Amino acid sequence: MADGAEPDTAAPDTAAQSSGTDVVLSLRSIAKTYLAGDVEVAALRDVDVEVSRGEYVSILGPSGSGKSTLLNVLGLLDRPTAGSYVFEGMEVTDLDEQERTAVRGRRIGFVFQAFHLLSHRTVEDNVALSMLYTGVGTAERLRRAKQALESVGLAHRSSFLPTQLSGGERQRVAIARAIVTDPAVLLADEPTGNLDSVTSESILALFDDLRRRGLTIVMITHDAHVAARADRAVHIRDGRLTELPPAAIAAPARASARGQR
Ligand SMILES: Nc1ncnc2c1ncn2[C@@H]1O[C@H](COP(=O)(O)OP(=O)(O)OP(=O)(O)O)[C@@H](O)[C@H]1O
Ligand SMILES: [Mg+2]
Repeated sequence: MADGAEPDTAAPDTAAQSSGTDVVLSLRSIAKTYLAGDVEVAALRDVDVEVSRGEYVSILGPSGSGKSTLLNVLGLLDRPTAGSYVFEGMEVTDLDEQERTAVRGRRIGFVFQAFHLLSHRTVEDNVALSMLYTGVGTAERLRRAKQALESVGLAHRSSFLPTQLSGGERQRVAIARAIVTDPAVLLADEPTGNLDSVTSESILALFDDLRRRGLTIVMITHDAHVAARADRAVHIRDGRLTELPPAAIAAPARASARGQR
């Protein structure tokens, strides 16, 4: 998706990398209003949220509550109508398209419900191509792709086409593609939405594993059991966020998630 015709520009240096701050992203008073004909839809209202390095945060809400809108803002795929977004110490709401594309390509990994793999490319190519505009050479891209595929347990499927894989395997490829650039944050929008419960569990276990390896994760879901896997859950309803105390999100799910670790 972010693999379009991106210019190979250097990502702007981020203040966080030099100041060593622990906050990866911070939204302040973010609003997003869509205009559908004459009707204004307030998809996000006065959203404040902060995610620290190494945190695994879930965003839980019903259909139409603004989850994907929030993910698109967080992922620099869409601009907020108002408010401030500081990503790795840098205000990103003012960046032009080229700068946003550079930050997105180098510092943000995406995983979607529908996998979004290139169907005529091998698994390995799908992963390696996400580094196309990061200035990494071909040989190094392939080496890193192999490593990422190994880390999601799919090294043995490198030369397969996505159509030859199961849903769970496809999502593993998408996760490998998202982490191969070593992003500051992994943004996932309903990553288990197309999977049966057993396969979902294995994908959630992989997210647990990535979190243990230090990756910062923001997971969007309408499923309280999925949300309960995170360190912290934030509820979204009608575009407004509220932090949920851990006990408030599916206590049994938390217990079983822990039991499986
Ligand atoms: N391009 C758009 N134009 C107008 N309204 C939009 C647009 N995109 C989203 N909306 C509206 O904004 C609100 C939030 O939409 P969003 O896609 O963020 O919800 P969601 O929580 O991701 O829902 P779901 O769980 O069904 O994916 C909805 O009321 C939706 O109709
Ligand atoms: Mg959505």
